[in-house]
Amino acid sequence: MPRIAYVNGQYLPLSESAVHVEDRGYQFADGVYEVWSVARGKLADFDLHFERLRMSLGELQIAWPMSERALAAVVREVHRRNKMSNGLIYLQISRGVAPRDHAFPKDPVRPSIVITARPTSRKAIDARVGAGIAVISTPDERWHRVDIKSISLLPNVLAMQKARDAGAHDAWLLDEAGFVTEGTRSNAWIVDQDGNLVTRKLGHDVLPGITRGVLFQLLGKEKRKIIERAFTIAEAQAARETFMTSASSWVQPVVEIDGQVIGNGQPGSIARGLRELYMKHNHIL
Ligand code: PDD
Repeated sequence: MPRIAYVNGQYLPLSESAVHVEDRGYQFADGVYEVWSVARGKLADFDLHFERLRMSLGELQIAWPMSERALAAVVREVHRRNKMSNGLIYLQISRGVAPRDHAFPKDPVRPSIVITARPTSRKAIDARVGAGIAVISTPDERWHRVDIKSISLLPNVLAMQKARDAGAHDAWLLDEAGFVTEGTRSNAWIVDQDGNLVTRKLGHDVLPGITRGVLFQLLGKEKRKIIERAFTIAEAQAARETFMTSASSWVQPVVEIDGQVIGNGQPGSIARGLRELYMKHNHIL
């Protein structure tokens, strides 16, 4: 079955879908995006991703391309047309098409929308979760508003490639003082020796991850403590467990950082438990 994309009002086979060469998303990375995971045929945390999209659009003064309600229906329709039971839905909204000029277009233009769907293999994900992954650390070279989910991801791309070249799966980014901000496409967590969960406090230097937020909500009902503070790579290497969270991986154990094995080199029981908690919450288990 061909994958179906939605582009500016039309549902098209992915191979026939295209955007204008003067789209400001293409020329300036002037746009925002969201990623939903689909598991067992359901879109996870649908409304929470919409709320963050509202924040990102507002911060960049990009108008909604259609009513929120209509856009939500289009996202669900892309999902339906792709008949996907496991995968990812990607939505991108750019400021629109205009002759190249750094300033916003003088006359308002209609924002561009692209929505795509991509199936993922649960088997491959389960294998990666079961084995854990290795990450490297590298300086965080991004701009100062990464709380906005902008499509401007070049530093993330370069950091990820550096990780892959080093034989690792991902990179954790370090601020100027040597503290971990987050992963290239995930939030970073450690479990300290007392069993507390530690992850960086939200601010302009970290994306307010939806998966992170859902775990906070779920853990509010449990006894385990979450401490919101920055941590170093040395602290992570000495931690009981380390893991990362995102819509694409939910809770992914990390078992090696910069060549140093964490704990016994196996995914920890706390990360595995959190993954189950998240999956139960989304009726995936
Ligand atoms: N990435 N931090 C960054 C830099 C991210 O790009 C992401 C998500 C997260 C986790 O956010 P959430 O839990 O809402 O997915 C944190 C998506 C999945 C991506 O770019 O593919």
